[in-house]
Amino acid sequence: MQRILFVDDDSSVLDGLKRMLRPFRHQWDMVFAASGPEALELLSRGGFDVMLTDMRMPDMNGAELLTEVARRYPQTVRIILSGTWDQDLRMKAAVTAHQYLAKPCHGERLRGTIQRALALREKLAIPELRESITRVVALPSSPAAFEALTGVLRSAAPSIQEAGAVVSRDMAMTAKVLQLANSTFFGYGRHITNPAETTAYLGVESMRALTFTAPVFSAYASPCYQRFSLDALERHAGAVTRAAVEIAKSRNCSKQMLDDTLVAGLLHDIGKLALASEFPRQYDEFLADAPDFPDAERAAFGASHSEIGSYLLWLWGLPDEVVEAVAFHHEPANCPRREFGPLAAVHIADALERHASLAIDPELDRNYLGELGLTSQLPAWIEDWERRRAEQGAS
Ligand SMILES: [Fe+2]
Ligand SMILES: [Fe+2]
Repeated sequence: MQRILFVDDDSSVLDGLKRMLRPFRHQWDMVFAASGPEALELLSRGGFDVMLTDMRMPDMNGAELLTEVARRYPQTVRIILSGTWDQDLRMKAAVTAHQYLAKPCHGERLRGTIQRALALREKLAIPELRESITRVVALPSSPAAFEALTGVLRSAAPSIQEAGAVVSRDMAMTAKVLQLANSTFFGYGRHITNPAETTAYLGVESMRALTFTAPVFSAYASPCYQRFSLDALERHAGAVTRAAVEIAKSRNCSKQMLDDTLVAGLLHDIGKLALASEFPRQYDEFLADAPDFPDAERAAFGASHSEIGSYLLWLWGLPDEVVEAVAFHHEPANCPRREFGPLAAVHIADALERHASLAIDPELDRNYLGELGLTSQLPAWIEDWERRRAEQGAS
């Protein structure tokens, strides 16, 4: 049985949770603690897959408990279940928690969040790798993007639109603001994927706190032995995003689907950034010897960059459509869903971009595209893409 630990100093809250989750008592081993120290004592006696904790508690607040749990038991998924909107505590939570649920929490949302967290174990089978990626609370940004963001936020009258434009070009910043907005860290907790709009929702003060106080955003410090280039990765992500959005537009998609496609394009290779950030030397050696194909990555690390990236985004509570596109962008036929969406657009865009930049055969899964009824549109998409490339080359 998978184990879940609930921590709250208010016994009526714990009683309410017991009642609400009673139907799951045969599937989940649920343990309830009345304080942070009691939770740590329980954790020392056996591991938990997920922990949900209150923030305001007398002996040890939720942020302190989460910091300890992140340090001692990094494999445990950390979720806050709290009614406090104290800005300082929320910022601390943004550094230590994977997700945030606001009290009172609707039963369906609570159950859905726990089920999603429990499903994580299946997404990354190797425990050591899962532990390393679960430990990640933020990834580094490109030095240029970080400098641009700090410049905007330090100015006397910061423009949230300018900050949003910087975030929209940076994988790490985009992933983090979407984590915060899609969870209820800042009181939204809804499906939102446009990075510029999300930045505007968070506002200047939260962005300043995330940059200067928390600090959640940071600049990537590239060790001298690295073959990995964050610049090249971000250029590729930008090109895939533009191509994927054009494909989605040609299908007259909804704004939501266009936003999801934009983010899926930007984040599709975020697993490579996680590998470069968490295992710099190992990833560097890997890049010297092998192409960055999923099977080669699985042999070297136990999982591909698609699996690692989608695990991280799932852990951070990003919408399913984005996580799915990241998970299956190299192997779309493995996705159970068979309809046009961000996955198909990113798969095509990525294959086109890789073909051009790596001079390898396009990795398009034509059978999958055929099943989706997209075969007839493919030549037009390729032609459009070649035309835009030629125009960019000429300008
Ligand atoms: Fe990829
Ligand atoms: Fe890619």
